[in-house]
Amino acid sequence: MTFLIKLLHLLPSETAHHLSLSLFQHFPLLAHLVKARKFNCSFDHPLFHNPVGLAAGFDKNAIALNFWDQIGFGAIEVGTVTLRPQMGNPKPRIWRMAPHSLQNAMGFPNQGAQVILSRIKNYRGKTPLGVNIGLNKDTPQAQAAEHYRQLYQMFSPYCQYMVVNISSPNTQGLRDLHQLCYLKEILQELQKTQLPTPLYFKISPDEDSNSLLPLLQTLKDHQVFGVIATNTTSQLSTIGGVSGQLLKPYSQKVWTQALAFCQEADFDLIACGGFSTHHDFYDYFEKGGQVLQVYTALTYHGFHVLSEAFKAYQLIEKKNLVAR
Ligand SMILES: Cc1cc2nc3c(=O)[nH]c(=O)nc-3n(C[C@H](O)[C@H](O)[C@H](O)COP(=O)(O)O)c2cc1C
Repeated sequence: MTFLIKLLHLLPSETAHHLSLSLFQHFPLLAHLVKARKFNCSFDHPLFHNPVGLAAGFDKNAIALNFWDQIGFGAIEVGTVTLRPQMGNPKPRIWRMAPHSLQNAMGFPNQGAQVILSRIKNYRGKTPLGVNIGLNKDTPQAQAAEHYRQLYQMFSPYCQYMVVNISSPNTQGLRDLHQLCYLKEILQELQKTQLPTPLYFKISPDEDSNSLLPLLQTLKDHQVFGVIATNTTSQLSTIGGVSGQLLKPYSQKVWTQALAFCQEADFDLIACGGFSTHHDFYDYFEKGGQVLQVYTALTYHGFHVLSEAFKAYQLIEKKNLVAR
């Protein structure tokens, strides 16, 4: 595995990504060679089957679902999906950064809702599926709420959870939707659907920390199930957003605040951002975190990362048993 990753790192980042994704798509049984150790702890979450999910953006078009299903993730998130297909920003748009980080300015390249929906309808795996939805580059602000509602209605019958992405730094104006006036408009429109499938909002690590609690409270007041904290940061680069080890302190600050809110309120947290080492996982579980997602660490360390997370979870479980 390490040798394979070293080879892939000789290629430009997006080429390496497409090559591995295409292998996963055409040879899903490869999962048996690389899959994580079995997760065999007691675990109780309404959606995830174990604590580690695949973050959005890795399989934007849902082409390798059968592979992901066999790897051992607790949930698979696809997308970001937009109503209409779009190319995204010109290449190059993903760069490796030291230490163990990525910078990306993808701009939601994806095959569009219809094509991706047809793939999702054919998915027969056991691993829960989440669909992350976003806006086309040219969607006017005034139509944002309606577009999110349409996407929610299309996908929600075919997945276990939905995610409204308001935090990608690569779509102009998207992050403005963190402002309560815009957010409430989207929430009211989404509530027209009665929200039959659990709904998360994916938030940015770059908002002023004073605005986080009102944001979480507003989401909760509108029957949102939880938050994914966080997307990439735009504090470390002039274009795009940074993920991986460099993102970790920014993301951790936000998920720590969100975790405290969730422990008081009936609201769920999926932490995301820079999780990679045994220590990262242990720290999160020890603080009471239950589920998280990974992306960048997979490109540097492979699926071994899941085993590290499972080991950390097991240690916390044992520690809690002894303490009782
Ligand atoms: C190349 C790339 C593309 C991404 N695309 C998306 C996306 O389409 N939608 C989304 O919500 N997040 C996207 N993300 C953000 C990840 O889902 C995740 O929130 C972020 O990378 C932090 O996690 P990590 O440090 O484990 O990578 C992308 C990240 C990368 C590196």
